Amino acid sequence: SSGLNKLAKTAGKLYLGTATDNNELTDAAYTAILDDNSQFGQITPANSMKWDATEPTRGTFTFSGGDQIANLAKTNGMLLRGHNCVWYNQLPSWVANGQFTAADLTTVIQTHCSTLVSHYKGQVYDKKTLGTSSTVSEPFNDDGTWRSDVFYNTLGTSYVPIALKAARAADPNAKLYINDYNIEQTGAKATAMLNLVKQLIADGVPIDGVGFQCHFIVGEVPGSFQTVLEQFTALGLEVAITELDIRTTTPASQSALAQQEKDYQSVIQACMNVKGCVGATLWDFTDKYSWVPSTFSGQGAACPWDQNLVKKPAYTGIVNALSA
Ligand code: G3I
Repeated sequence: SSGLNKLAKTAGKLYLGTATDNNELTDAAYTAILDDNSQFGQITPANSMKWDATEPTRGTFTFSGGDQIANLAKTNGMLLRGHNCVWYNQLPSWVANGQFTAADLTTVIQTHCSTLVSHYKGQVYDKKTLGTSSTVSEPFNDDGTWRSDVFYNTLGTSYVPIALKAARAADPNAKLYINDYNIEQTGAKATAMLNLVKQLIADGVPIDGVGFQCHFIVGEVPGSFQTVLEQFTALGLEVAITELDIRTTTPASQSALAQQEKDYQSVIQACMNVKGCVGATLWDFTDKYSWVPSTFSGQGAACPWDQNLVKKPAYTGIVNALSA
């Protein structure tokens, strides 16, 4: 039978991929699915390339967790998307408000992005398609204003070009993305992202793509998703679905699982319909390891494989979109 990645590639996409995490790799039933590159042609580390994991103390870099995922990608012939250089969350305690002047923080960002991206330079089977899925992650609040984090508070919007330029210098072949959630529908936040990337392009700042996280709710997939994707590709950028899951109240009813099948299909179909959408990444493929229940109490069942690693109707929804 044809796996998801095989179908995606046959349909002209670069990959269908998944997030994974280091602690999951000892689960043999899980890795038997993960390691099948007809199923997944791309992986993203859910945690181990983040700032707290890679530079826990200033100037001291630890890449063992990230390397394990990068090596897995290489062994399995999969693309690797990095995740991430600059994000307000999962920062080590030394990267905090009030700790730095603007000049200091500029150096801190440059050192972090440059060391991280150059460490993974050429770590995948095809250098040209190494994606840093999120050189910059989640810069905006839901109303389209800038998120008040250590980066924005200290440097204003300039932290974005600082990070992107450092990443480009570290690996000219790496694809540089900005990644966010709730930008999948027309509205203030998508407009803010459009305006940001237009400004970056006008200023000659390196930017290759925008990642749409797509942490959706069953029955609430935005109808304007494809339109938004097209607004970004019209600027000459590529787009990708970087963190897809579609959650519901647990335990999931049969009707919710049936709606979830339609929802997965419509999300993947939007990517299929947009030439510049390079691929989609599940934010892990199984409910066994989904982040959702620990963040949204009473919700979950968000992935195409269930707790027992059995395919759900959602899997068929993805297959239907990829084979249409
Ligand atoms: O590393 C510690 C471990 O030492 C400790 O024993 C354990 C006990 O709770 O916690 C571990 O840290 C957890 C970490 O995942 C690694 O497992 C954190 O508590 C937990 O909060 C963290 O969750 C991650 C979350 O980002 C944090 O915001 C999820 O796994 C990860 O899937 C999720 O991914 C994010 C993307 O990076 C950005 N977009 C949103 C997406 C979903 O939140």
